[in-house]
Amino acid sequence: MAPGAAGAARLALLALLWTLLPGPGGAGTSIHPSEAIIPRGGSLRVNCSISCDQKAILSLEAESTKKVVDRRNNWKVFELSDVQEDHMLLCISMCHSEVTMASMDLTVYWFPEHVELAPLPLWQPVGEELNLSCLVSGGAPRAHLSVVLLRGEEELGRQPVGKGEPAEVMFTVQPRREDHGTNFSCRWELDLRSQGLELFQNTSAPRKLQTYGEALGSQQRRCTEGDFLLGMRGPWEAEAPGHGAAEKVATLIAKASGKSIFLATGVECSGLGACTEG
Ligand SMILES: *[C@@H]1O[C@H](CO)[C@@H](O)[C@H](O)[C@H]1NC(C)=O
Ligand SMILES: *[C@@H]1O[C@H](CO)[C@@H](O)[C@H](O)[C@H]1NC(C)=O
Ligand SMILES: *[C@@H]1O[C@H](CO)[C@@H](O)[C@H](O)[C@H]1NC(C)=O
Ligand SMILES: *[C@@H]1O[C@H](CO)[C@@H](O)[C@H](O)[C@H]1NC(C)=O
Repeated sequence: MAPGAAGAARLALLALLWTLLPGPGGAGTSIHPSEAIIPRGGSLRVNCSISCDQKAILSLEAESTKKVVDRRNNWKVFELSDVQEDHMLLCISMCHSEVTMASMDLTVYWFPEHVELAPLPLWQPVGEELNLSCLVSGGAPRAHLSVVLLRGEEELGRQPVGKGEPAEVMFTVQPRREDHGTNFSCRWELDLRSQGLELFQNTSAPRKLQTYGEALGSQQRRCTEGDFLLGMRGPWEAEAPGHGAAEKVATLIAKASGKSIFLATGVECSGLGACTEG
């Protein structure tokens, strides 16, 4: 049977009818299991039964492919296959002329296809807030899916993954000097332990953070290629043995960002264009 809007509407109508019908009384319909979680594309056997003193009519409403695999007078086992989405199953039976129903919730789980830490700024000043975004594509059920921000192996924060494809989860950190050269990454966790399954997880490729120093003052110099803040400590790697590397890094930043760049104390804007104090 084709899943889709028509099927969903029919189920909704049946569910409504169900609430209007007289209560289950003595001859009740049962569905077993009463809830289930299966991998997307997986299959499941469902047993619909009724307590009835004669042969009863039994049927199952489901938005996935189904077939009867076993039956007796008062029960039928259906096999659902290639289940793609969460849905409600409704078992409907008729004993004498009384119709009763029972429902079950079927949940589908699948792992995110991709997780990524959005690119970091080329250089990040220490002590200043930095927003890191984790992007998670796919994965369900979202209510059990969270994302963890990692600094190396250390867990810095954890948040639920909301809607969106990809879903974006933002963390704010304040990088420290010792974070220079550290790998940051995002890990998704699909925690299905409460459903009798496992904790599944996977981690994004790491991105390396490069930090630079505290402000020692904030005189600004305007050069033809951009604004330069002098009186800042340069990138850590550039501190020794000389400032040649810092100058190179500064040049690199100027070219990359095209706006504010930071030079190690004492490094001239040579090669970057004429500068004026500003
Ligand atoms: C289906 O359920 C009925 C009622 O509980 C039970 O008697 C029957 O054995 C079940 N069939 C299978 C194949 O499990
Ligand atoms: C980080 O994100 C928050 C919320 O969107 C925003 O208010 C703040 O300005 C951002 N900070 C930086 C450094 O981009
Ligand atoms: C950071 O990640 C890169 C790429 O996976 C790896 O080569 C490097 O060793 C990592 N650095 C640290 C400090 O873990
Ligand atoms: C985890 O990620 C790796 C690399 O992206 C991928 O090859 C692997 O299939 C993923 N595992 C799961 C369970 O998603």
